Amino acid sequence: MGICIPQRSKQNWICFLVLFIATDVWGSNICTSRGASTCKQCLAVHPSCAWCFQEGFGKGLSRCDLRQDLLSAGCPSGQLEFPTSRLDVTENRPLSGKGSGSSADATQIRPQRLHITLRPDDSKRFTVKVRQVEDYPVDLYYLMDLSFSMKDDLARLRTLGNDLAVRMGRMTSNLRMGFGAFVDKPLSPYMYISPQAAVDNPCYGLQTTCLPQFGYKHVLSLTEKVSRFTEEVKKQSVSRNRDAPEGGFDAIVQAAVCKEKIGWRQGASHLLVFTTDAKTHVALDGRLAGLVQPNDGKCHVGKDNNYDMSTTLDYPSLALITEKMSENNINLIFAVTSPVVPLYQNYSELIPGTTVGTLENDSGNVIQLILDAYAKIRSKVELELLGVPEELSLSFNATCLNGEVIPGLKSCSGLKIGDTVSFSVEARARGCPEEKRKTFTIKPLGFKDTLEITVDFECECACQAQAQPDSPECNHGNGTYECGICLCHQGRLGPRCECAEGHYSPTEQDNCSPAMDAPACSRRGDCICGQCVCHSSDFGKVWGKLCECDDFNCLRYKGELCSGHGACSCGFCQCNSDWKGDNCNCSTRTDTCMSGLGLLCSGRGQCVCGSCECTQPGAYGATCDKCPTCPDACTIKKECVECKHFKRGSLFEEDSCARICRDEIQLVEKLEFHDKNAVNCTYKDENDCVERFQYFEDASGKSILFVVKEPDCPKGPDILVVLLSVAGAILFLGLAGLLIWKLLVTIHDRREFAKFEEERSRAKWDTGHNPLYKGATSTFTNVTYRGNKE
Ligand SMILES: *[C@@H]1O[C@H](CO)[C@@H](O)[C@H](O)[C@H]1NC(C)=O
Ligand SMILES: *[C@@H]1O[C@H](CO)[C@@H](O)[C@H](O)[C@H]1NC(C)=O
Ligand SMILES: *[C@@H]1O[C@H](CO)[C@@H](O)[C@H](O)[C@H]1NC(C)=O
Ligand SMILES: *[C@@H]1O[C@H](CO)[C@@H](O)[C@H](O)[C@H]1NC(C)=O
Ligand SMILES: *[C@@H]1O[C@H](CO)[C@@H](O)[C@H](O)[C@H]1NC(C)=O
Ligand SMILES: *[C@@H]1O[C@H](CO)[C@@H](O)[C@H](O)[C@H]1NC(C)=O
Repeated sequence: MGICIPQRSKQNWICFLVLFIATDVWGSNICTSRGASTCKQCLAVHPSCAWCFQEGFGKGLSRCDLRQDLLSAGCPSGQLEFPTSRLDVTENRPLSGKGSGSSADATQIRPQRLHITLRPDDSKRFTVKVRQVEDYPVDLYYLMDLSFSMKDDLARLRTLGNDLAVRMGRMTSNLRMGFGAFVDKPLSPYMYISPQAAVDNPCYGLQTTCLPQFGYKHVLSLTEKVSRFTEEVKKQSVSRNRDAPEGGFDAIVQAAVCKEKIGWRQGASHLLVFTTDAKTHVALDGRLAGLVQPNDGKCHVGKDNNYDMSTTLDYPSLALITEKMSENNINLIFAVTSPVVPLYQNYSELIPGTTVGTLENDSGNVIQLILDAYAKIRSKVELELLGVPEELSLSFNATCLNGEVIPGLKSCSGLKIGDTVSFSVEARARGCPEEKRKTFTIKPLGFKDTLEITVDFECECACQAQAQPDSPECNHGNGTYECGICLCHQGRLGPRCECAEGHYSPTEQDNCSPAMDAPACSRRGDCICGQCVCHSSDFGKVWGKLCECDDFNCLRYKGELCSGHGACSCGFCQCNSDWKGDNCNCSTRTDTCMSGLGLLCSGRGQCVCGSCECTQPGAYGATCDKCPTCPDACTIKKECVECKHFKRGSLFEEDSCARICRDEIQLVEKLEFHDKNAVNCTYKDENDCVERFQYFEDASGKSILFVVKEPDCPKGPDILVVLLSVAGAILFLGLAGLLIWKLLVTIHDRREFAKFEEERSRAKWDTGHNPLYKGATSTFTNVTYRGNKE
């Protein structure tokens, strides 16, 4: 790369030639510089490195090099070891549109099977599409607490059975329902044992009768004949136990694992509705009754449909329930009464894929609750990973609705049935497992559909298979010949194992120093057999023909070699991906600069080495997002007030409110002074109301938006005032018109009168003269006169 600087005085340019040798260390590259001495080591250096196993390949050249370089150095391509990472889709059925009842074969994930071949440190990317098909078959197993307090619930459920079937039937044309009941372990202290009569009739003390206490009882296997559900429920009656918590978790595990008994279908949504009004026993509570054997998570429901091991095994742990739910794709719905909702909510957070609904005290709303829970289950798609090998790291980006890519997420919510979402997945091999081939599964939580991925870790070279132990190639059997090189036995050295350790020959010494008098092997090794055998160092590895390279003499930053983001190779940092700079302390990522609003450094600065340099005066914070004095703080926060408080606006519609607006909203009567950095904002909303809020950040950086409760809305005009003023205006105009008319008429009249007066006065002067008088006129005619003609 050349850099030219104009030289003013001489009117010409001086050019410098600057060589960038980051990837070319003294004429070497990443493959050659690491000193890989075997094929396996070479593959681990970098995915671009190849190994030449040609016999007697060019003396002095590294067998580990870029493929291109090896080929041009004369290594035939048949003698090259260069496995590449590949991705093959081995099963790729299209997603189904509709489940249509009998859909054991509905496909909700695509692809279904992948085969990935990965070199160490290499990665492959693929896309997984998930669609919830419509009309997917549903298996609903109703697990009911039949302790005494549930008496009214049972009475109610008897009347609800048909309705439940009808309303579930609107969601799917293929519904199966089943029923089971539980109370608690029939053991003291959970059970009344005295007087003797109380054992057979626990309600003895209440002067009534009820069933003897039982642990878990499976009543009705899943069946299409939903009328059977009502029938069976009608036959049930309650029992009674002694302590407040019940033994429902025993029942949950049995209902989940006794697949044949319950009749869970492969291709169906599995809903397990758990109704109770009390707390529950969990693992270790069994000690009260002397049960120390942990729950084994196996099916123990016998011919009589009772849980046989109720009095032998302890209650299950939350972890066991989680495992069994996931294994059997069961969506657990806790339908519990309001006093225990917080408790089951806490359980639900620990057991993925569970929902909690508040049950009325007589179970009256259970149908709506199940429908809501089912809708909630179906509105979310979350990928679950099963058996991912340790050596593989997976990263996800979700593309949910409207095409927005959400980095790092492997779930989508707010979906409707029939929506398709996709996830971009990157699989990277971090290391080499002992077994070459590993298989793992990605599946949407609660679905039977899976994506099965087989990964082959390409850590070994194929030529290793043809290794010859004690090969004649290696000085008559002094080493193993493998991939073109000799791996010498203990105590033997040299490319062909021709030397024994301790063997000394002065002429060979010369090969170990660059010049005649220079120290041999850079003083960091011994010259044996004409080769440098580098000492091991406490700091790290030393290698190179003359032991000139090591992996500890590189730039440090904050005490860490290559800032901890790269490998030191022969004096230079080889930065990991995402890092650059001489000491690898500069991140090339920009996502860390991305503000919640999707602007790089909130548009108030620039992203330098992965962190924001704020350029706008007053801006601070990791993404320059904090800037109470910036003119546009109001514009940004306005959107948050709109979506968080009013539940409207663009962010609300995009469903990105919770992600972008971390602010706390506090409603106030009027704004008060909080801090000199707080800003008062006003804006006009869609109803033309003036909203007022104050944006304030406390010392810990928490942002609070104080929103004035009552916006100033323009008052509608008062009808009476309008009417009166219109009437007044008309009246006024009319009066004014009248007045003007009157004025004009008066003026006119005055003028006429004046004229009349004037004429009258003139008439007064000759009143003796009769204007009508005409003097008499006499005419005479001379008949004889002819006149003279001309
Ligand atoms: C639920 O968990 C929260 C937070 O961990 C805790 O404060 C609360 O007491 C728990 N509620 C119950 C009923 O256990
Ligand atoms: C059920 O709740 C109603 C009010 O919500 C109450 O009146 C009634 O007593 C409760 N019944 C029981 C058995 O607790
Ligand atoms: C996820 O998105 C980020 C940023 O948009 C990108 O850098 C990363 O490569 C993506 N990962 C996958 C697995 O697609
Ligand atoms: C190893 O090398 C030595 C010396 O060249 C030779 O005598 C011996 O036979 C070789 N083979 C083994 C198996 O040691
Ligand atoms: C990286 O290291 C250099 C040299 O030590 C230092 O000047 C620079 O500020 C560092 N950059 C970052 C982003 O830490
Ligand atoms: C915001 O309004 C309050 C109340 O009117 C006032 O006390 C405060 O000084 C104002 N803050 C700023 C920065 O103008």
